[in-house]
Amino acid sequence: MFHNIKFFLKFQLMISRINYAVKNIKYLIFAGHKKGHGIHSPFVYNLIKDVFNKKDINSELQKVLEFYKTINASDELVEFENSGAGSAYGIKKSLTLSQIIHRSGISIKYGKLLFNLVNHFKPETILELGTSVGISSAFIGSAAKEARFITIDASETKLNKAKELSENLGLKNIRFVKGDFDEVLESVLLNTSKLDFVFIDGNHKKEPTLKYFEQCLNKSHNNSVFIFDDIHWSDDMEKAWDEIKRNPKVRVSIDIFRMGIIFFCTELSYQHYVIKF
Ligand SMILES: C[S@@+](CC[C@H](N)C(=O)[O-])C[C@H]1O[C@@H](n2cnc3c(N)ncnc32)[C@H](O)[C@@H]1O
Repeated sequence: MFHNIKFFLKFQLMISRINYAVKNIKYLIFAGHKKGHGIHSPFVYNLIKDVFNKKDINSELQKVLEFYKTINASDELVEFENSGAGSAYGIKKSLTLSQIIHRSGISIKYGKLLFNLVNHFKPETILELGTSVGISSAFIGSAAKEARFITIDASETKLNKAKELSENLGLKNIRFVKGDFDEVLESVLLNTSKLDFVFIDGNHKKEPTLKYFEQCLNKSHNNSVFIFDDIHWSDDMEKAWDEIKRNPKVRVSIDIFRMGIIFFCTELSYQHYVIKF
């Protein structure tokens, strides 16, 4: 019986990996506008030109890239309890820092994008759901050293590691909040007047993702930017992304396969873009 369940779960995982690979291939074949050609919106065209395709690396970004290299090679063990979709809840695991970032951290390519987006929009208030050991926090935080930046994760050990790593990077303005999003997000938002920049990268299930989105939406404004990671990771996330981009408050949505980015600015026309990144 146990073997049958194990086999079924492995089979399901294999099917979902194949599905994901097929979706990725379709994206790579059909997505366009890599250089902004064919985009009529000046806002989106400039975003592609000035942010997505930005090649310069300033000293802050250089520092995070070096930090990334060190973590990437680290065999230091971190013991933590699982939470979120795709993991068995409450099961204790022990992985090296390098394994953690390979399995669930942001890659250099998307880390640079987060850095460049923050650098471009200059948010004063930032919220991240899903800190893990703080890789995305490092890219975001290094681009916004003066911002009020709150990041939340249920795992105390991962958060402690993220704190330590951010201190090593000289980042002083990040507030690390430990807790389940379902339990702490509401109170965090009660003490937040507005959200300029939100990165959602935890609990990749449809209903919770939509709930966190709605909660954050209450604190959004005309110039807010929300980013969702892993929008095509599962059918559940696919459905969540579909509802998010159809929300009437969302003016522009951009799908770069790994992430979905949304804007609320009422001067923009309603439009959805799939952009090769
Ligand atoms: C994909 S990892 C985040 C990776 C991180 N953003 C990075 O790039 O380094 C997702 C994180 O979300 C946390 N998480 C998942 N579900 C959660 C929940 N319901 N409440 C709090 N944290 C949760 C997990 O502990 C995990 O560390």
